[in-house]
Amino acid sequence: MPEKDWKIRMRIPWLLFLFGLGILSLHTAANGIEPTGEKTEETTHPSIEEEDNVLVLKKSNFDKALKETKYLLVEFYVTLSGPSQTLAAEFAKAAEELKSAAVDVRLGKVDVTDQKDFKKEFNIQDFPTLKFFVDGDRSNPVDCKGVRTASAFVTWVKRRIGSCSVHLNSTSQAQAFIDPEGLAIIGFFKSPPGGVVEVFCDSARSTPEIPFGMTSSDEVFAHFGIRENMIVIFQKGKPVYNEVAEEGKLNHMELTRLIKTFTMDLVTEYNLETSVKIFDVPVENHILLFIPKSSTVFNEAYENYKTVALEFRGKIMFILVDTDESRNGRVIEYFQVIEIEVPAVQILNLTSDARYKMPAERVTGRNLRSFCQSYLEGTAKRHLSSEEIQEGWDKKPVKVLVGKNFDKVVFNKKNHVFVMFYAPWCEACQKVLPIWDELGKMYENRKNIVIAKIDYTANNVQLLNVERYPFFRYFPVGSATRVDPYKGEHTLDAFVNFLEEQIKAQKKVSSKTKKKDVVKEQEKTTKKEEL
Ligand SMILES: *[C@@H]1O[C@H](CO)[C@@H](O)[C@H](O)[C@H]1NC(C)=O
Ligand SMILES: *[C@@H]1O[C@H](CO)[C@@H](O)[C@H](O)[C@H]1NC(C)=O
Repeated sequence: MPEKDWKIRMRIPWLLFLFGLGILSLHTAANGIEPTGEKTEETTHPSIEEEDNVLVLKKSNFDKALKETKYLLVEFYVTLSGPSQTLAAEFAKAAEELKSAAVDVRLGKVDVTDQKDFKKEFNIQDFPTLKFFVDGDRSNPVDCKGVRTASAFVTWVKRRIGSCSVHLNSTSQAQAFIDPEGLAIIGFFKSPPGGVVEVFCDSARSTPEIPFGMTSSDEVFAHFGIRENMIVIFQKGKPVYNEVAEEGKLNHMELTRLIKTFTMDLVTEYNLETSVKIFDVPVENHILLFIPKSSTVFNEAYENYKTVALEFRGKIMFILVDTDESRNGRVIEYFQVIEIEVPAVQILNLTSDARYKMPAERVTGRNLRSFCQSYLEGTAKRHLSSEEIQEGWDKKPVKVLVGKNFDKVVFNKKNHVFVMFYAPWCEACQKVLPIWDELGKMYENRKNIVIAKIDYTANNVQLLNVERYPFFRYFPVGSATRVDPYKGEHTLDAFVNFLEEQIKAQKKVSSKTKKKDVVKEQEKTTKKEEL
């Protein structure tokens, strides 16, 4: 299943920045030293040792534990990993509670720091990993994922070995079941519900932190005004979502994803704490709004974002990144968001790692909606580090640059190169482009002068101190490194005057002594290094 993969693999690029240290310590742990005294301990203790009601399992007693317990939930961990330590206390609490239950359930743990065999046998990559063994079957354990609290462990196990949800026999039972503060899911199923109930139960088993109830009572159906098989999500005591449960139409992943999105706010602000939750929800599409909260347009943009988030609930997860917050620097860098583009909106497909930039300047409901729609329909343009070089790119008066040919053209010692950086969606750019064409025509037949343009949104070109679109840079003759900003007006006259001055200045420079040129070249090189 793809969702298994993305949780392990795709979480890494996003979270690497935050948990880099945690991962390092995990590696240290994995390469740790051999444990000592294991054998002697085993021979002197015939029964399996326990720690806080949790069986301490090893290579030598693992089979014995499997044989002696009908249901065995095992935590594979490494001592030094932070997440393993956090889990240990909750796991022990759950072990205590389950030990007193009548059924034959036990919890065990294996320190796999040096147990390469265990890691290989159960394909363990993340720590901790939890697996549930039934009837001593060592070959087909069930993964227990995303469970963190003691109560969720208990519910998880109970939903595996018994009924997956609470049977609600009366209106009063249903009312008591619905949590006035949190979430509750009720399946309204008239007989014979068959496959629909299977799907519902699978979702219940994957989300033990949420209460699941089921009813077939006429009284309860009537009370909630329900006539057909239906799954209803209640939030803070009120029905907030319902899904007609038709045989064959509902699938476990979609239902689980939908339900899990209700554990999150419509828009989740990115920070250390939420980053973990964000990846718990199996939605493969993330949209991110990068905006400084101090911005004058923040409130309006945020409201629009929330409105559209509601429309795409369960399909795209809406995340907010405050660019004022210095701790978000790494994430902003990862998505290559530059200051002039903020507020910026991007979609990330976590499965393919493809990124998409919203082709619009303003964060309006309309722009957001059409961006999300085009993405889901597969018509949005994927963001790459460079567009392909256009056929005939150098045949027109204005040369068309992309990431791939940029350096070669602009850092050419023989030419004066004057480049316009634009965004296709920017209105100010639309006004200047025809003027730029005129400039191109004027210099078309002048030797050593290149007028060019580049779509800066579609090509990653590193520049310092970029301004609002459009902006311009001049790359002088005689230097393969120097970049000069253009600060003048966006008129033909101003562009021409600027260019003629550069040409004149260059002529003066070339008539001076070679020695001076060398000095100047050194200055330029220093400048490049600053870039
Ligand atoms: C509803 O009835 C069933 C069968 O009698 C029982 O197992 C279940 O506990 C009842 N539900 C509640 C919430 O009491
Ligand atoms: C996301 O990527 C996966 C894998 O390439 C692909 O199957 C899926 O259709 C993509 N989703 C969208 C909405 O483009």
